[in-house]
Amino acid sequence: MSKETALLKSMFSFTKTPLICSAPMLGTTGPDLITAVYKSGGLGFLGAGFDLTNLSANLAHTHSLLPDITPLPIGIGVILFRADLSLFLSSLKSHPPVAVWFFAPETAEQLDTWIINTKSHYPQIKIFVQLGSVKELKALLAGPAGEGIDVIVAQGVADSGGHGLCRGASVVGLVPEFRNVIRESGRVIPVLAAGGIVDGCGAAAALALGASGVVMGTRFILTPECAAADGFKEYLLNLSDGGQNTTRTRIFDTLRGTGFWPQQYNGRGAMNGTLRDDESGMAESENRELYEKALASGDWERLTMFCGTGVGSIQDLQPAGEVVVSVRDGAVKALWEAAQEFAGL
Ligand SMILES: Cc1cc2nc3c(=O)[nH]c(=O)nc-3n(C[C@H](O)[C@H](O)[C@H](O)COP(=O)(O)O)c2cc1C
Repeated sequence: MSKETALLKSMFSFTKTPLICSAPMLGTTGPDLITAVYKSGGLGFLGAGFDLTNLSANLAHTHSLLPDITPLPIGIGVILFRADLSLFLSSLKSHPPVAVWFFAPETAEQLDTWIINTKSHYPQIKIFVQLGSVKELKALLAGPAGEGIDVIVAQGVADSGGHGLCRGASVVGLVPEFRNVIRESGRVIPVLAAGGIVDGCGAAAALALGASGVVMGTRFILTPECAAADGFKEYLLNLSDGGQNTTRTRIFDTLRGTGFWPQQYNGRGAMNGTLRDDESGMAESENRELYEKALASGDWERLTMFCGTGVGSIQDLQPAGEVVVSVRDGAVKALWEAAQEFAGL
């Protein structure tokens, strides 16, 4: 086992290897989902987003589902550019989690500040940072918070669902380069792969690239425990050919009232009527009116549905715990079969 994978295992001894994580997804990953992920040997992240007003209540709810376990064997994902650091730190007091996940800072300095403050208040909490470029990784490692990072999530934005950098590679390019840069810095930091992974084969590919585990977002939307609307789930189940039928754009945010994301980010979601009208020149005001009507009538053909390119391979809703087990076992099986086929083992 590599030093990185062994370190990851030692951080979260209640998990099974390879580590399967459910991504924090604002508005969709709540206590039921992350508890199910934990119970199957994975690590689930609460999608706290940027408005942390309900974070403390959500942690209390999660604690009620896992009453005898301290610290809470879950993580919390925060979108930094709009989040309040003091509210965050105070919200963790009653039920501290084992991990936090930082994403989308306004600036590199903001990310450093959050890491340094979280480590000084809660030294036992492991810090995950999700990044989409080698440039960001190098700056983070060389900066004042470099020593505080425990796990890096390599977000391959060429496939990943939801927000990420407007431009970027897939995990195929990103994971090996991240691993090399970290090793060259002299640090041992496990890398997790995120973006387009929905099954054991995808996870096996990420592990072969040098990841110590994987993160999935879209796959966990299509679980009964996910809080996403039924219409959203149904739409995704009927979607195939994710490279053609999802895209990265800012129009999904603009129309649903979250156009305040910093310019370097956009979001990948299912292509729909809203996008087609935008691309054929419809005025934003008219498109917004249609969006509002669709919201009132539940017409998902026009609403924002963030998801990744792997969506086409997902055939059914599957309980979150089963997803964890099938992806973990499927990854090991796929690696074993590849070794037999190509290395004569
Ligand atoms: C609906 C949705 C919401 C998301 N919300 C967040 C979020 O709140 N915080 C975050 O760090 N990442 C968020 N992400 C991105 C995930 O962290 C992850 O990078 C992505 O889901 C991986 O790609 P995949 O969806 O193909 O598995 C979201 C993704 C989706 C699909």
